[in-house]
Amino acid sequence: MSEPIRVAVAGAAGRMGQAVCAAVEGADDMRLTGRADPALGTALADVLGDADVVVDFTRPDTALANALECVAAGVHVVIGTSGFDMDPLFGMRPRPPANVFFAPNFAIGAVLMMRFAAEASQHMAKAEIIELHHDRKLDKPSGTAARTAQLMQGDVPIHSVRLPGLVAHQEVILGDLGQTLTIRHDSIDRASFMPGVLLAVRRVSDLPESPLVGLEHLLF
Ligand SMILES: NC(=O)c1ccc[n+]([C@@H]2O[C@H](COP(=O)([O-])OP(=O)(O)OC[C@H]3O[C@@H](n4cnc5c(N)ncnc54)[C@H](O)[C@@H]3O)[C@@H](O)[C@H]2O)c1
Repeated sequence: MSEPIRVAVAGAAGRMGQAVCAAVEGADDMRLTGRADPALGTALADVLGDADVVVDFTRPDTALANALECVAAGVHVVIGTSGFDMDPLFGMRPRPPANVFFAPNFAIGAVLMMRFAAEASQHMAKAEIIELHHDRKLDKPSGTAARTAQLMQGDVPIHSVRLPGLVAHQEVILGDLGQTLTIRHDSIDRASFMPGVLLAVRRVSDLPESPLVGLEHLLF
């Protein structure tokens, strides 16, 4: 058997970070080598030396700097943090040896929702998106909603709801003469994101291009 992939998690003390640490520990082909989080007193720099891949679920104001630090250290990075500007990562020339993968949503159902919404928008007159998340989410609109709108035809307004009790939910409502079509996805548990995160960890060292955006590129 080949060597396990050495994975460090940035944002390890957070809601997503804790779930990712547990998922990595449960994967036979991976080893959790570091937990970076100011809440744990561990900086990203402290864990880079022992990692092949960093998984980042932190905050919109730190994800870019973290990704640049990983790439500079030659460590691949899988980013789930949403609400930050990725442009500087696209501007890296020549392409660095370490790859960057970002998915606005790691849940298979959400990827399918985006795909179906994109297709439906080619056949129906207008559409709007309602995205609903827990009230501690920092960014608005969600990365998933922004990406869905980008993939759809026409101008698609986004409405954001933030309430306790929610995890991550989205409705795409399309309207045309005498009818509507609603496509809805619900993540009712953060476990929904873990198979996608592990898939990205396995694939990030071998991407056709970098940065690569969207789990659909690894699934279909
Ligand atoms: N792509 C997806 O599928 C997906 C799914 C869920 C959430 N998210 C996104 O993931 C991010 C994290 O969400 P969450 O609910 O876990 O947030 P959270 O607030 O629970 O956790 C964030 C953690 O990051 C830590 N942190 C802050 N700065 C850091 C730094 N410089 N280095 C390392 N750690 C740092 C914080 O101390 C905190 O523990 C958000 O942007 C959220 O929108 C993405």
